[in-house]
Amino acid sequence: MEQADLIWHNGELVAWEDAKVHVLTHGLHYGTGVFEGERCYDTSQGPAIFRHRDHLQRLFQSAELYYMPIPYTLEELRTATHELIAANELRECYIRPIAFRGYGQMGLNPLEAPVEVSIAVWPWGAYLGEEGKARGVRAKVSSWRRISSDSLIPHAKASGQYLNSVLAKIESIKGGYQEAILLDARGFVCEGSGENIYVVRGGQIITPPQTAGILDGINRRSLIQIAADLGIPVLERDLARAELTLADEVFLSGTAAEPGPLTRRLQQVFDDTLHGRSPRYQDWLDVVKLPTKAI
Ligand SMILES: Cc1ncc(COP(=O)(O)O)c(C=O)c1O
Repeated sequence: MEQADLIWHNGELVAWEDAKVHVLTHGLHYGTGVFEGERCYDTSQGPAIFRHRDHLQRLFQSAELYYMPIPYTLEELRTATHELIAANELRECYIRPIAFRGYGQMGLNPLEAPVEVSIAVWPWGAYLGEEGKARGVRAKVSSWRRISSDSLIPHAKASGQYLNSVLAKIESIKGGYQEAILLDARGFVCEGSGENIYVVRGGQIITPPQTAGILDGINRRSLIQIAADLGIPVLERDLARAELTLADEVFLSGTAAEPGPLTRRLQQVFDDTLHGRSPRYQDWLDVVKLPTKAI
């Protein structure tokens, strides 16, 4: 992976190679962490973080769902992220804030373990590759079902929960595919290993609802709004597996999209939005002030 110079760790900027934790960190053993994946894009107004407050709000919600008090306010983490991007002099980057139960208490009761918070930023290209973004990817319906709300919390973006995505991803890669599509516990289409999913049929977009065990994706919210603004009908309803085969187009959001005329149109508007070329969605961008020498 590419590196940056500095990482924000418990309130301080530390050198990339010094951002370390103890091997008895609670989250390492039991998965007790919550995190976000965000991106900062180069725009004509400067580097801008896409829907930054919405991501941080989801981080705080994930933490609440796992009884984890984050010892900073949302605004403090927002400012810390700006400072970190500026200190690293990055114009475009991936952003990974994480809050986790740290060192000090082992065992399954995490409530006495301290909560630590880190934010890392680094340059990271398209998750499924530029080729995948431009031409699409091959995805396989996984033999693994997406975690369900009777044993975990699909609405939370929590570290331990990602073992589910990891199993599905490994299975798809070993099978010669690039991505996995997970069904929910009932056998309906749920999402990718790290992306929400959409089917286009007869000019309509269909995507699984909040109750299907999905993560409430920030890109999903944005795409639903952009589609509505473009006059494209979006249905949030259970999606049968057969509808993947019968679809005119299938696309994923979070990272990549498979080409097709309607997907392309959305991808174009979305790309303009991310890069500050769309006045309509300007308030989704949180512009970062860089030191003058980085501009
Ligand atoms: C399991 C899962 N579903 C969906 C998404 C898409 O969410 P977002 O659009 O907020 O990146 C992600 C990405 O974080 C994810 O990990």
